[in-house]
Amino acid sequence: MTRASWRTRIGFILAAVGSAVGIGNVWRFPWLTAENGGAAFLLLYLLFVVLVGVPGLLGEFVIGRRARSDPIGAFAKLGGKNWRPMGGIALLASVVVLSFYSVVGGWILRYLLGSATGAYFAAPQQFFAAIDYGLGAVAFHVLFLSLTAAVVYAGVDRGIELATTIMVPGILVLLVGLAAWASSLPNAAGGYGFYLSIDWGYLQANFLDVAAAAAGQALFTLSVGAGVMLTYASYLDEDRSLAADGTIIAGLNTLVGLLAGLVIFPVLFSIGVQPGQGGPGALFISLAGAFADLPYSRVIGVTFFGVVTLAALSSAISLFEVPVAYLVDEWDVSRPRATAGVGTLFLVTGGVAALSPNLFTLLADTVANLALTVGLLGFLLFDGWVLGRVALEEYESGAGPLARTLGRPWLYAIAVVLPVFLAFTGLSSVTTTLGVSVPAVGLLLGAVLAVGVAVVVLRRPESVF
Ligand code: PHE
Repeated sequence: MTRASWRTRIGFILAAVGSAVGIGNVWRFPWLTAENGGAAFLLLYLLFVVLVGVPGLLGEFVIGRRARSDPIGAFAKLGGKNWRPMGGIALLASVVVLSFYSVVGGWILRYLLGSATGAYFAAPQQFFAAIDYGLGAVAFHVLFLSLTAAVVYAGVDRGIELATTIMVPGILVLLVGLAAWASSLPNAAGGYGFYLSIDWGYLQANFLDVAAAAAGQALFTLSVGAGVMLTYASYLDEDRSLAADGTIIAGLNTLVGLLAGLVIFPVLFSIGVQPGQGGPGALFISLAGAFADLPYSRVIGVTFFGVVTLAALSSAISLFEVPVAYLVDEWDVSRPRATAGVGTLFLVTGGVAALSPNLFTLLADTVANLALTVGLLGFLLFDGWVLGRVALEEYESGAGPLARTLGRPWLYAIAVVLPVFLAFTGLSSVTTTLGVSVPAVGLLLGAVLAVGVAVVVLRRPESVF
């Protein structure tokens, strides 16, 4: 059987943008910005997208396009059987992320319906408290998961490519419309001021916290570490510039995040809500409250939650595809059967997360970030120290002159700088979770040591160093 592939280059780019643009952009990003001092956060975030996110994304693309296989198969093909578990970690990361993501997807569908019927207008606070966990949450998780599965079932080109080619432009157009509408709200300027002015004092006082949040978001928003981008790149059948594609993908993704902020902050300020308090759920509540108070509540609510639904679905599709690709590539299972099997798995994992707030929080806050970090660390060490020259060759294939000159610096960055950085943030989140406090210097030493040991163990002759 011939392997699935994208029909067009734009199709691949839009599918990848669809994966990147998600709840992370329209919900997590504005919320983190609000919580971390407005534009101070924005600045660091942009820096990390360029310095960490894009190089990491290319690290995944290179492995996927070279191997033309699912993550586990890709490692086995290019590095030997011993590398299979590393692909397994990415696979696990995709399962962890979709397990809570699908629950949030269910909430969003609820808000979409609630906007049409006006269900949350009278009491936004109580509405969220009534839908967040429990059997209702399970039911809407199942609905969201079924929509996701239907697209994956239809195939790479006739399902994912077709759906995202419609969804991504839809997201952009609707968001631009919403941002234009938001600019006409009373006190919109207050929102822009908060969002776009830099508070240097805040940044200085909280540098490490803001940086950690910005780095985590830069990885999450570009969907790296879970094998999603590797799998999508494995469906490429001609060699165009991965660097150019990666830059376009990151650029569009950032644009959507910025646009979402240009909608959300004027809305919050127009009804006098100070953003940044009360955690992630609060954003849902205060936005819903704001829509209820503004004219044309239903139209605005449906449009906004419609955008969030499209964004969430196109990301969920990419996460669902990872285990499906594994079953299809490694076990020769047909796509329909693989979709059914993977759907059953998520039915259970997401269902449990929808019933247990503790498990949900553990997955969403800690396990997911850690799994993405470890997953990406594995990809990058593999690129730098096992593939080495082969990775560079794959990067250069189809690349233009500018991208070529950046090839070597890119490889050095993903082989040395980024792994130390990822090990540092990973260690820092582990120690924070365990409640032990280690000074930053200690974490850095630990990170350097860990990467050093890994390099000594992994290094192959093809490595460029
Ligand atoms: N990038 C998606 C978002 O911003 C989340 C995601 C993470 C998707 C990892 C796939 C893999 O919502």
